[in-house]
Amino acid sequence: MKKDVIIIGAGAAGLMCALTAGKRNRSVLVIDHAEKIGKKIGISGGGRCNFTNLKVSHENYESHNPHFCKSALARFGPQDFIAMVEKHGIAYYEKEAGQLFCKGSSIEIIEMLRKECDAAGVDFRLHCRVEGAEKRGHFYVSTNQGVLESASMVIATGGLSYPKIGATDIGHRLARHFGLAITPLQPALVPFTFHQKDLHALKELSGITIDAEVSCGKRRFRGNILFTHRGLSGPAVLQISLYWNPGERIVINPLPDVDAHELFAEKRRSRAELHNVLSGHLPRRFVEKWCELFLQQEAVKPMHQYTDKALNDIARKLHHWEITPGGTEGYVTAEVTRGGIDTNELSSKTMESKNVPGLFFAGEVIDVTGQLGGYNLHWAWASGYAAGRYV
Ligand code: FDA
Repeated sequence: MKKDVIIIGAGAAGLMCALTAGKRNRSVLVIDHAEKIGKKIGISGGGRCNFTNLKVSHENYESHNPHFCKSALARFGPQDFIAMVEKHGIAYYEKEAGQLFCKGSSIEIIEMLRKECDAAGVDFRLHCRVEGAEKRGHFYVSTNQGVLESASMVIATGGLSYPKIGATDIGHRLARHFGLAITPLQPALVPFTFHQKDLHALKELSGITIDAEVSCGKRRFRGNILFTHRGLSGPAVLQISLYWNPGERIVINPLPDVDAHELFAEKRRSRAELHNVLSGHLPRRFVEKWCELFLQQEAVKPMHQYTDKALNDIARKLHHWEITPGGTEGYVTAEVTRGGIDTNELSSKTMESKNVPGLFFAGEVIDVTGQLGGYNLHWAWASGYAAGRYV
């Protein structure tokens, strides 16, 4: 049974590619080693699937070529996906900052994609593990169910994160086999772990959440950060992890809305102790630990006993708390993989390999990684659509 197109991976990108190609009357077979389609969509957004973001722009993506994603995003924007969601009567809402979630469950998005694929005549083979592929005129895909043949092949096998639901490196291996370059891979949108010495000092903060600004180099994000028993998590930390490289330090500003210099100047003549002043703006447990770590006995002095210089130093330290993470929690908990198929190898319009005609890529396997907030699924839809139009 020869097909026009074999798509490896029945995830977000593979399914969007399949239904788009099917609508163009291409005969399409989607193969996946999982027992059902769209497993990662199912667990996304805490089961409610943050399926797109109204503010999608190339600036929300990290890639060695920040312009690569522009064309696909321009051809398939949030409204295009929303139109499909509305056509299927799926209720959704905007959570914050343009992030659209299902009101019910992410299963509805998977069902929508399945129906669209069925209507477009797409065939599926599940429990079908891809082990390799060759091109001899056509593509010959080796699987545990035999060799399958097609005129074109799309690799939509995603990233390395969440191996427990089926992520593998087959996409990267196939790309290398066909001579394509891969940029360095790294877990992203992932909690940080602390070095042992910081862990020892900061373990009492475990469980505390604060609203903070976190920065790494020129990037900064505002949002909740959570101290865990291993390090740091929370939305602002996950965001900054996309821009962090091992060995780099991050800077936390736990008081993004209050100018500590002004606050201290206001209380300059007060008898209140410093940590009581700070507790008006931060959780007491956090303040006590932070003061113990950085100020020791200084913190229990009444405000009027400090010199201006001492207060300025404390304010500066507080707004600029530097931590060098020991690492990240890795692919086990990372939402995505940063890096992937080098975009220099692909046409940004069609997602086709420049050197291997008929070989296409879509989704997270490509070196385009989105920030938290619906951007990664949107990249999967947009790149899947682009490939599906030309495959
Ligand atoms: P995806 O990983 O979806 O699909 C790849 C497919 O290839 C899988 O079905 C896999 O089984 C198959 N495969 C792998 N190896 C194979 C082999 N050897 N043979 C056959 N098949 C093979 N993003 C977002 O925008 N909003 C959100 O709310 C979330 N939430 C979220 C939560 C969690 C816990 C995670 C882990 C991730 C997210 N994401 C997210 C990220 C988002 O889910 C992700 O970027 C996309 O699903 C990627 O889609 P792809 O189709 O590229 O890969």
